[in-house]
Amino acid sequence: MRVLGIETSCDETAASVVALDDAGMPDILSNVVLSQIEEHAAFGGVVPEIAARAHVEALDGIVAAALEEAKVGLADIDAVAATAGPGLIGGLIVGLMTAKAIAAAAQKPLFPINHLEGHALTARLTAPMTGNVDFPYLLLLVSGGHTQMVLVRGVGCYERWATTIDDALGEAFDKTAKLLGLPYPGGPSVERAAAEGDASRFSFPRPLKGERRADFSFSGLKTAVRQAASAIAPLSDRDVADICASFQLAVTETLAERVGKSLARFREAFPDIAQPVLVVAGGVAANRAIRAALDATAARHGARLVAPPLKLCTDNAAMIAWAGIERLRAGLCEDDALDFAPRSRWPLDEEAAPMVGSGKRGAKA
Ligand code: KG4
Ligand code: ZN
Repeated sequence: MRVLGIETSCDETAASVVALDDAGMPDILSNVVLSQIEEHAAFGGVVPEIAARAHVEALDGIVAAALEEAKVGLADIDAVAATAGPGLIGGLIVGLMTAKAIAAAAQKPLFPINHLEGHALTARLTAPMTGNVDFPYLLLLVSGGHTQMVLVRGVGCYERWATTIDDALGEAFDKTAKLLGLPYPGGPSVERAAAEGDASRFSFPRPLKGERRADFSFSGLKTAVRQAASAIAPLSDRDVADICASFQLAVTETLAERVGKSLARFREAFPDIAQPVLVVAGGVAANRAIRAALDATAARHGARLVAPPLKLCTDNAAMIAWAGIERLRAGLCEDDALDFAPRSRWPLDEEAAPMVGSGKRGAKA
């Protein structure tokens, strides 16, 4: 079984071919990602119009490169999978239209994929590297537009247990970086600066700590960073490093406490599962301090942390191809996929009540 995946929901143009071998093990035959970081850097964030145009220009070549690297032609693939949402609508249209054209011309089934499902199932794609992950498991999705704890019961079966009531965690990293004059994208810049800093210099809040609900909140932390920075401006490199280190410590301690709530709930809900699995996914999962904190939290609750390799945490098309394979394997075909309209907003758990103030950057996933 081989699936071609296409991802264009934000600022990466990506295509990949993923196969499932006879033993049921995933095999990433190619994973081509073209980042648009340079096109957007001057603006300090992603500019939707520029992103959409860049996808149009690059996508054909990226798809051809993914097929060539995988040494397959369109006749050798079993289906096409493309991100159909959530994300920036211009990019989604480019990717999904291209996938529809390929699927129609090659007469292969098309899978319109929820980008968040791609992140959610990545831990099963990386089974050869990170060990098998069976359903159900707990997922912490932390990206530029989302911060959620999700119970993954099966393919297409997701229950949201917690979400942010204001900013997403990646957004908090990006805004902190911008405030401190660090380059875009903010997360890696903050992590780099934090490595040189003194985390005990500033005492930032741990939002919602001790509350019974398992939700997250990061806007108060961002405000505290802004106040600390303006109180000592102009900032030296040392000040910036210390603020980043103190911010990152507040984030890791907050995540550990908040995620602990959902792990305890999982243990109660599934007492027969000897060692629950906590999966972390999304761009923020690339942060090493956050991984270490989650590893310790999982261990404290008798669980195992599964964190995909860094380049499969950030946006890529291998996770989209893999979601296609999971759907193909589970027989979850979309009958009128060629008519599927891209969705800029598309929650994983359609039943979950919307949070006031959350998802302001709903365009990002
Ligand atoms: O999932 P992703 O690649 O894209 C979407 O949001 O769709 O996540 C990007 C987010 C950005 O906010 C970026 O700043 C954050 O992930 N990020 C990080 C790190 N690398 C990327 N945040 C903290 N530490 C990092 N090392
Ligand atoms: Zn993403």
